[in-house]
Amino acid sequence: MPFYRSVGQIPDKRHTQFRREDGGLYSEELMGQEGFSSDSSLLYHRFRPTAISSSTEHRPEKAEPVANHPLKPRHFRTHKLDGAGDAIFGRHHLLSNADCRISYALADQPSPLYRNAIGDECIYVESGEAHVETSFGAIDVAQGDYLIMPMSTIYRVVPTGSEMLRTLVVESTGHITPPKRYLSVRGQFLEHSPYCERDLRSPAEPLLVDGEDVDVYVQHRGRGSATLWTKFTYAHHPFDVVGWDGCLYPWVFSIHDFEPITGRIHQPPPAHQVFQGPNFVICNFVPRKVDYHPDAIPVPYNHHNVDSDEVMFYCGGNYEARRGSGIEQGSISLHPSGFTHGPQPGAPERSIGADYFDELAVMVDTFRPLELCEPALDVEDTDYAWTWNRDPA
Ligand SMILES: [Fe+2]
Repeated sequence: MPFYRSVGQIPDKRHTQFRREDGGLYSEELMGQEGFSSDSSLLYHRFRPTAISSSTEHRPEKAEPVANHPLKPRHFRTHKLDGAGDAIFGRHHLLSNADCRISYALADQPSPLYRNAIGDECIYVESGEAHVETSFGAIDVAQGDYLIMPMSTIYRVVPTGSEMLRTLVVESTGHITPPKRYLSVRGQFLEHSPYCERDLRSPAEPLLVDGEDVDVYVQHRGRGSATLWTKFTYAHHPFDVVGWDGCLYPWVFSIHDFEPITGRIHQPPPAHQVFQGPNFVICNFVPRKVDYHPDAIPVPYNHHNVDSDEVMFYCGGNYEARRGSGIEQGSISLHPSGFTHGPQPGAPERSIGADYFDELAVMVDTFRPLELCEPALDVEDTDYAWTWNRDPA
């Protein structure tokens, strides 16, 4: 995030002596993006963050994604996925390209310690609650929260409460930020932004955990766009940071704090944008008053975004434009480039005169085509492609 925070104990001056009670030096670590040329934080560790005692190959099961060919719009029912596990290794990979991977996880147990050294992650909580522990401190998340986890942060996810933790995960190959147009040149949210600094949460105090010989699973870059995994064993528990400051840290924004932008006639998806990443954007559709021109048609017109594949995750309310298509809570639709999509038959007429839509959906538009992973194909509703060729529901 662009704004400065300071948590726990730090010395008055950076890169100067900062000593533990026993007289030894704390280990200072700069964690920064784009070399030394972008956002960073300084973290003060009780132990050396460099001390590993082993590095072993780890090979989680994975299947090769396949092209969306022959080309079709798709519908995947994530609630038909089973196999609850943890929020990291329990991720069912659904869609991917060279810029991002979209997964869905059901978690009922704590994850191991994990670091994604490929890019930032955006974790959206569909339901359930979790305590997320990181080197920067802990943060609680619940239904509707987006958690933005900076690349290479060591963390683990501990589900809390009685409900299964269900998350949609976007793993990026770069950095996920608020849209640039929402920010001033110095990084403050501008007045037209649908959210601002007051809506964001981040760790408030250090998290210190004792331990020796602690395993951390690292997802990292391989040849080309290949993803590799390594298990490091750290001499001391990596949650040993007594203080940090800077502009790089995990943060949370609730979809319920997004203030929708509405108009007399239909507002296009950029009005609903919440984040941007390399070659993709994330938008959300929240409950809102709709178009108030006397002749307005509130549902979208047919559209063909020729440069992007559109992924919609339906996570609350009724998604009016898709009524009659089989779309339900937890559904994901994929409307690829090369296919014109639009409201389901009958939806435009039905929407006339409506003044409020009770819908909640997260959208990821990618500027390179998405490939399909096996878990998605396992829960595909193969009739979806033909639903626009039916009589109105
Ligand atoms: Fe669309």
